[in-house]
Amino acid sequence: MNYNKKTVRDVDVSGRKVLLRCDFNVPMAKDGSGVITDDKRIRAALPTIQYLLDQGAAVIACSHMGKPVATFESYKKKQLEKGKDEASITEEKWKKSLAELRMEPVAARLGELLGRPVVLADDVVGPDACAKAAALKGGEVLLLQNTRFEKGETKNDPELAKKLAALAGSDGVYVSDAFGAVHRAHASTAGVAAYLPAVSGFLIQKELDFIGGALANPKRPLVAILGGSKVSSKIGVINNLLEIADTIIIGGGMAYTFSAAQGGTVGDSLLEEDWKDYANDMVKKAADKGVKLLLPVDTVIADKFAPDADSKVVKAGQIPDGWQGLDIGPETVALYCAAVAGAGTVIWNGPMGVFEFEKFAAGTKAVAEALSKTSAITIIGGGDSAAAVQQLGYADKMTHISTGGGASLEFMEGKELPGVACLLDA
Ligand code: 3PG
Repeated sequence: MNYNKKTVRDVDVSGRKVLLRCDFNVPMAKDGSGVITDDKRIRAALPTIQYLLDQGAAVIACSHMGKPVATFESYKKKQLEKGKDEASITEEKWKKSLAELRMEPVAARLGELLGRPVVLADDVVGPDACAKAAALKGGEVLLLQNTRFEKGETKNDPELAKKLAALAGSDGVYVSDAFGAVHRAHASTAGVAAYLPAVSGFLIQKELDFIGGALANPKRPLVAILGGSKVSSKIGVINNLLEIADTIIIGGGMAYTFSAAQGGTVGDSLLEEDWKDYANDMVKKAADKGVKLLLPVDTVIADKFAPDADSKVVKAGQIPDGWQGLDIGPETVALYCAAVAGAGTVIWNGPMGVFEFEKFAAGTKAVAEALSKTSAITIIGGGDSAAAVQQLGYADKMTHISTGGGASLEFMEGKELPGVACLLDA
């Protein structure tokens, strides 16, 4: 895929309306108070917004938020699938779930950060958005409602894409800066590019430069640290990185499937029986390609999945029944940290253990600390590893922390990203 795309600097946006797709899908307090608990994604969009405003563009920003369910019937079906009692599922709760995904808190925070008012539309392409977009002048910002309130968004409906494009008028421009959503072929992330000249913003450029650079032309040795619970969700990444990396380090829940595949006993640890053959294939592929594949040599086990569980350290592959592995052990930590210390580039995706429980956070902490000390280029995939690095206070020590969870994963899998593919080639 060609990642060399035109950027906001390649078009004259002055006096024009710009439809700007951001990823403002920010975490909110669970109590429904509308408090944004991490505004990193809003801050990450500021350089592009500020640049567009400085150039005299009128900015019509839009984003999705969460996964709103369009009808009460489908809401009910989903709740029943989650095991909720039918009597407890009410229309009122469905409406509340939608209200919690409105963009009011984002508009307020964006306004604070920009230091200027942000007008909020009550709909996405309805009468309010159309009227407010038509009246918008250079230097002003309008934010549309949650794009997923429109049924056609996730279906990449061309009619919705046309209506979104029409908000920017016949002379409009589409700028995508929603790196976190570029793996989605939706109306506002990809479809709309068919109807307006489409270029990237600075955030997408930065993500493409850092992640793309680390994959295409890494300073060697390239060490990839892959964690997380399931082999099945990391297959694509392991497979692709076996073509690129010098060393692959495996941690997290998925290590137990590798261990079981090699004949070890894993007790009650996370295990994907169906992926054991695949795990063995990966070990063989690594050996054939001369890639060093490091697996845990010891593990911290627990007698239950709880923060206050009893714990001890055992050799990998020797976990007794009734116990489960929740973190890598100290010998493994030393092995992995040594690999990081000698790296030219490190890509990290997925925690080493259940770092949400203090007792089982040591492996993830040690790896984060090793990354903070190395002189290597350090690239952190979004999602859990980004959260871990932030939570542990090492964020400013990393070369790049991606704003995209699923997007950075698919990028590392070598997949085409529809939200990038749709932009004009440079
Ligand atoms: C994310 O949070 O990873 C992005 O905003 C994409 O969200 P989605 O998984 O709901 O498409």
